[in-house]
Amino acid sequence: MKLVDRTKITAAVVALASLSALSASFLEISPAFAKEPPPQPVVLNASAVAVADKYAADAAEHIFREGGNAVDAAVAIAFALAVTYPEAGNIGGGGFMTLYVHGKPYFLDYRERAPLAATRTMYLDDKGNVIAGKSLYGLDAVGVPGTVEGMWEAQHRFGKLKWKQVLAPAIAYARDGFVVDEQLARRREDASKEFGGRTNFDNYFSSMKDGVTFKQPALAAVLTRISVDGAKDFYQGKTADLIVAAMQAGHGPITKRDLLEYKAVWRQPIEAKWNGYQVITAPPPSSGGIGLVQLLKMKAILAPQFKDVPHNSAQYVHLIAEISKRVFADRAQYLGDPDFYKVPVAQLIDDAYLAKRAAEVDPEKPSDTKSVQPGLGTSLPEKAETTHFSVVDKWGNAVSNTYTINGYFGSGVVVPDAGIVLNDEMDDFAAKPGVPNMFGVVGSDANAIAPRKRPLSSMTPTILTRDGKVALVIGTPGGSRIFTSIFQVITNIYDFKMPLKEAVAAMRFHHQLLPPNTIFWEPYKPIEGDLAKQIEAKGYVLKGQDFSGDIQAIRIDGDTPEAVADPRGRGVTRVVQ
Ligand code: GLY
Repeated sequence: MKLVDRTKITAAVVALASLSALSASFLEISPAFAKEPPPQPVVLNASAVAVADKYAADAAEHIFREGGNAVDAAVAIAFALAVTYPEAGNIGGGGFMTLYVHGKPYFLDYRERAPLAATRTMYLDDKGNVIAGKSLYGLDAVGVPGTVEGMWEAQHRFGKLKWKQVLAPAIAYARDGFVVDEQLARRREDASKEFGGRTNFDNYFSSMKDGVTFKQPALAAVLTRISVDGAKDFYQGKTADLIVAAMQAGHGPITKRDLLEYKAVWRQPIEAKWNGYQVITAPPPSSGGIGLVQLLKMKAILAPQFKDVPHNSAQYVHLIAEISKRVFADRAQYLGDPDFYKVPVAQLIDDAYLAKRAAEVDPEKPSDTKSVQPGLGTSLPEKAETTHFSVVDKWGNAVSNTYTINGYFGSGVVVPDAGIVLNDEMDDFAAKPGVPNMFGVVGSDANAIAPRKRPLSSMTPTILTRDGKVALVIGTPGGSRIFTSIFQVITNIYDFKMPLKEAVAAMRFHHQLLPPNTIFWEPYKPIEGDLAKQIEAKGYVLKGQDFSGDIQAIRIDGDTPEAVADPRGRGVTRVVQ
């Protein structure tokens, strides 16, 4: 059985532990039976959050004032965003949480899984061609959601407050309503056009207009049940029944058994030494942590080539694109769910390997795309929407959390009588290995569809520590742009010594091997004028994308946290004394 009464089992295991050394090692590794940690001294003069929406920030502030720690605040934020940031906040999706608690790094994978009925060819027609939209819209696009199980697991392992307390702000927002922001209203209109009546999206969301108070009583009832019965309600209880009823009514693939068997997984985070910092970031099934470490290390190896190259100049863009080319070649070939495919993580971030890859960089002109093969021996498109929040508490703990329903408003399906927006995460699998996905990235067999498998992600919730203390907590939405964005902000802070606000606001760009020699620019700070001409003169094609990213970052200087929400989004920060 998946969800258990942990009080009873903890007592039983503690009794066993005194009898046997074997039990003691079991206690050590099993999060469900973690011992009560010793109290922590206060080490910072404030707690802080950077989050995509003001209501969630208020929720976090409330939790801190009640004595909660970073994990309590993170869980409260995740549930609040499911109500007030419904385009990406969710309980119908999944994500990744990187934590630094009591001086130790942890990583929680609560990514969606393919349902048991999933097959390798489920999105292909009789001729073997990808059926347009099938992995993006409607019930067939939905992976088994992990968010509720993830939040339950994190809060029960590390939270200080009662589970009910962290659900309370979200319940109030759903029951009493929140005032709809102009950006949210616009995103709802765009999504409505995209779904084009293929799903029940408009039935639920058509009244969510700029300035109105939007109430969600059905979602309030779901959240209230979860606050009383825990994650069990979502995976085995009345909410599970509502999800399965929606699936049955629309011939969708997710069954009771899919929900019952869902599990979040504690994994070893990726850790790497860089520039005097310990980088703690997302392992597979994210490609992002490996990609981030590869980018950081290759840039450091190529320091002589970067010497005196001005920030965001044409030569800078070229050198970063050359490095990115190699990172995306590896991403396409080697990365997938580690429970199904042996990902060569250590080799991919090995210094000698990266030195060899960096030596292939052409300092003058773009390397021929076809010549850039996976380095140990091909790339997929993906949706950019998703959301991230960063949290630190005054005890020095940190949470970096990125979670998603993939595109804004996911699959466009809202579970009737529950108000749960279901994800379209199945699009992050390689529907046909070798064919690009929505973000233009190509996938290999490592990311082919299989029952229970998690699709490859780019989400990269990251924490940097120095001398055992948290120095930076950072993440962003952006699909395959996630780790190239985080890389650029980290580089801005530590290589270019920019203040955090400037580092986050600076222009960002993106290259990902395919399409060949293409540099994507963002609407927030377009590449234009002389810079555009100089980059084109180097042999690149410039292409605008419609997404700018939404970095949420906290930097700690001494004992003072500074939080910055990306000016590209509607995010806010709070520093709570
Ligand atoms: N669906 C976006 C990601 O997982 O990276």
